[in-house]
Amino acid sequence: MEFVKKVLCIGAGYVGGPTMAVIASKCPEVKVVVADINAKRIADWQTDNLPIYEPGLDEVVKSAIGRNLFFTTDVASAIAEADIIFVSVNTPTKTFGIGAGKASDLQYWEKTARQIRECSHSDKIVVEKSTLPVRTAEAMERILNANAEHVHFDVLSNPEFLAEGTAIKDLLNPDRVLIGGPETERGRAAVEEVVSLYAHWVPRERILTTNVWSSELSKLTANAFLAQRISSINSIAALCEETGANVEEVAHAIGMDKRIGPKFLHASIGFGGSCFQKDILNLVYLCEHFGLPEVAAYWEQVVSMNAHQRTRFVSNMISKMFNTIVGKRIALFGFAFKADTGDTRETPALYVTRELIEERAHVVVTDPKALDNARRDLADLPQDLITYEPDPYKAAEGAHAVAIMTEWELYKELDYRRIYASMEKPAFLFDGRNILDVDALYDIGFSVYPIGRPGKSRL
Ligand SMILES: NC(=O)c1ccc[n+]([C@@H]2O[C@H](COP(=O)([O-])OP(=O)(O)OC[C@H]3O[C@@H](n4cnc5c(N)ncnc54)[C@H](O)[C@@H]3O)[C@@H](O)[C@H]2O)c1
Repeated sequence: MEFVKKVLCIGAGYVGGPTMAVIASKCPEVKVVVADINAKRIADWQTDNLPIYEPGLDEVVKSAIGRNLFFTTDVASAIAEADIIFVSVNTPTKTFGIGAGKASDLQYWEKTARQIRECSHSDKIVVEKSTLPVRTAEAMERILNANAEHVHFDVLSNPEFLAEGTAIKDLLNPDRVLIGGPETERGRAAVEEVVSLYAHWVPRERILTTNVWSSELSKLTANAFLAQRISSINSIAALCEETGANVEEVAHAIGMDKRIGPKFLHASIGFGGSCFQKDILNLVYLCEHFGLPEVAAYWEQVVSMNAHQRTRFVSNMISKMFNTIVGKRIALFGFAFKADTGDTRETPALYVTRELIEERAHVVVTDPKALDNARRDLADLPQDLITYEPDPYKAAEGAHAVAIMTEWELYKELDYRRIYASMEKPAFLFDGRNILDVDALYDIGFSVYPIGRPGKSRL
């Protein structure tokens, strides 16, 4: 088949895979190639067992794979034939050198930029899909256009706002698509090319075009604001626990104010995932770099509050369980950082497990989608203190406590009478996601401790 345009995405991860699958399914006349250096990932995308779990992803991939959606490890050839190249490689927090612990590690991004330059023999539009520090596009353009005599690159920013767990829904029906480009004739034409892809299914009024820096900064700002709401309500949850107020009631009352709105006001053990913390720390680093220490300190507090919430949760477990958990079996229900994903990057459960093991508890981890990742994440801990168990009923057998770490629907529907019967007594339940009915569990016999609202203790 003759394709009218060739799109490439470098990076076949949580963003590159689903995003390109949706573009391919909606733009059948466009050839979409997803390339990655991770051969296993590329192989898995071409099986029934996709490398990531997202509701609805299987169907979208099936609708286009082999038709106009292709996966490859041959990044160089894919670059050579592409008209538009999305770069969706990972940009984790730097762990070494200057800016360690805050700045973005741009090594994967820069390698990609250099490879694009080396393998290009025709003009390309290069689109930043990864989340990057403000003004990265400028560096990208300098790398690409150094030594490039006959080839011209237009660098745009098109940050991705999908949320894991609802990625396909978000991609099919986005609140907005943001495309930043240079305010030049060439830049505007390049932006229009990318707009025309999304316009296959996204209403034009939801496709925003801005200058490049605004686009780059909007992504960091969106994540900072979202995470800030979680830390804000969690800070109030701590105060609720001391005063007898109920955080759910407070959230409902303030959320009815249209200026505040009801979303993202759910108290919990805290946010996780690969993005919120990384992007805020990146914002903090940028503010410090640009001589704005007060602004940096303001945003850094969002991350500190999130860490505090996890520590508070574990301290509460220990104090309620008579100040010692040595040798006690604690079942963690959920390991993914949120429901409907297998992703465990920066998951609160990881920190909680580490703290519990530090206290010499025996941790039983259960999760419907994330056990493989959990095994990998916890590999450095003493394995005789950890059990991995797919069945939550078995995980709870003989446990002194169950702690809800992930808000999977499945955990709302379990037979807690059966679970209670199989546990050590007194049986404790710590609900880190506020998804369970405190009164019903108390009536069964549990001592129940949710977040930011009154628990019920049998002791
Ligand atoms: N995960 C999310 O929910 C989300 C949402 C919005 C934005 N983002 C941003 O999108 C970017 C990608 O995130 P992700 O979660 O998809 O990461 P990921 O780690 O799942 O995927 C990145 C992929 O890039 C590949 N890669 C790295 N260097 C490469 C190279 N030189 N050539 C080819 N492939 C290479 C890796 O092998 C990996 O498979 C990050 O900047 C992230 O901040 C993520």
